[in-house]
Amino acid sequence: MATTLITGGTVVNATGRGAADVLIDGEKIVALLTPGSTLLGTDLSAGVDRVIDATGKYVIPGGIDAHTHMEMPFGGTFASDTFETGTTAAAWGGTTTIVDFVVQYAGENPLEQYALWQEKAAGSCAVDYGFHQILSDVQDSSLHAMDELVKEGVTSFKLFMAYKGVFLSDDGQIVKAMQKAADNGSMIMMHAENGSVIDLLVQQAVAAGNTSPYYHGITRPWQAEEEATHRAIMLANLTGAPLYVVHVSAKQAAEQIALARDKGQNVFGETCPQYLYLSLEEQLGAPGFEGAKWVCSTPLRSRAEHHQDHMWNALRTNDLQLVSTDHCPFCMTQKQMGIDDFSKIPNGIGSVEHRLDLLYQGVVTGEITLERWVEICSTTPARMFGMYGKKGVLAPGADADVVVYDPKGHTSIGLGKTHHMNMDYSAWEGFEIDGHVDTVLSRGSVVVDGGAFHGRAGHGQYVKRELSQYLI
Ligand code: URP
Ligand code: ZN
Ligand code: ZN
Ligand code: ZN
Repeated sequence: MATTLITGGTVVNATGRGAADVLIDGEKIVALLTPGSTLLGTDLSAGVDRVIDATGKYVIPGGIDAHTHMEMPFGGTFASDTFETGTTAAAWGGTTTIVDFVVQYAGENPLEQYALWQEKAAGSCAVDYGFHQILSDVQDSSLHAMDELVKEGVTSFKLFMAYKGVFLSDDGQIVKAMQKAADNGSMIMMHAENGSVIDLLVQQAVAAGNTSPYYHGITRPWQAEEEATHRAIMLANLTGAPLYVVHVSAKQAAEQIALARDKGQNVFGETCPQYLYLSLEEQLGAPGFEGAKWVCSTPLRSRAEHHQDHMWNALRTNDLQLVSTDHCPFCMTQKQMGIDDFSKIPNGIGSVEHRLDLLYQGVVTGEITLERWVEICSTTPARMFGMYGKKGVLAPGADADVVVYDPKGHTSIGLGKTHHMNMDYSAWEGFEIDGHVDTVLSRGSVVVDGGAFHGRAGHGQYVKRELSQYLI
């Protein structure tokens, strides 16, 4: 087992920062040391297999992206990143754990689908991975499966209030799953948009000839998100289930979450980089079919209505707890399925490689502190989804998932292949990033260093998660 010493850097955890050297033995962190520590008079760096010089840089716990969709079957096609390409891109961006979604469509057996996803991911991942489970039709067999899956380390279940005929659960089905979650301690994750309202608005828009990508945003208004978020909160309140609202984009939905939290309910919310930076007007409203690149749900919101500012504020105040990407990439040929009708554009944006960098810009501009950056990108995802201690912190006993981040570095995101995600364009083209992911270790192995990839498919291991460690 190799030993590694990361010297000279500023170690940043969610709880604070300080000068410290990180000593790694094999896959684990064994000590944080006063810089220049000796052992019985001997310089420690002389006795280890590898020294990584982090002078002038931040040393942070590896990022955890708690919401990805590698090779997801969706919208008549598959998300373009495989577990191999997607986790390789994640590693490049300093993310050392992903939590992906097993998909169960109506009529499918959740346990069979879980086994299928385990098979897809096994031997393919460059970094560690866990699973949430999507439930589409909540049958008695699904409730039994929820108990079995918790034993397997799948301790969170995503339900949908939109996509009728595909994923949507009605309120009765939602309550059934929530009752089970309240009983077995798991978390209900909710795609909170009013599907019936959206389906009607889409029908009306297409009938009126409003078929461009811009209308994806217009037909999924914030009222549909606020209403569904409120309804999900009330159903969770009724049942006692913990509720985690995914991809929050509307300020009114974030306010519903804040209100419930203020009353002491176990309600949580994530937002995504696209809702912090991009907008209905600039991206979805781009000329021609260009806006298709940013068709995702919930949709990008109006900048004139200041949703983006509100998301930053909610992250500062802990009204929202963390940032995931909802990484669900599609190439342009796939997006073109909706060239004549926005409702046929596969929904999703690819960002798994850029989350740490994009959120670090919030540190640069003073939106969040360095510690909060680490908290929303790593520590809270670990606690929220039952991985804390092993993941999400630099401390003795934790997995040696470590990122050396250079605040003086710079990254320009260009067209196409300045990234490693399997996409033929970038949703982030033109973004200039202050800061740079220099070195990434996954369980003690260097996977990225000096602009080169040293990882391999199959290095990543399944993380059997505990119940949430974030509940009140
Ligand atoms: O547009 C999105 N978000 N695609 C992925 C599926 C989902 O709803 O998270
Ligand atoms: Zn969703
Ligand atoms: Zn998603
Ligand atoms: Zn650099």
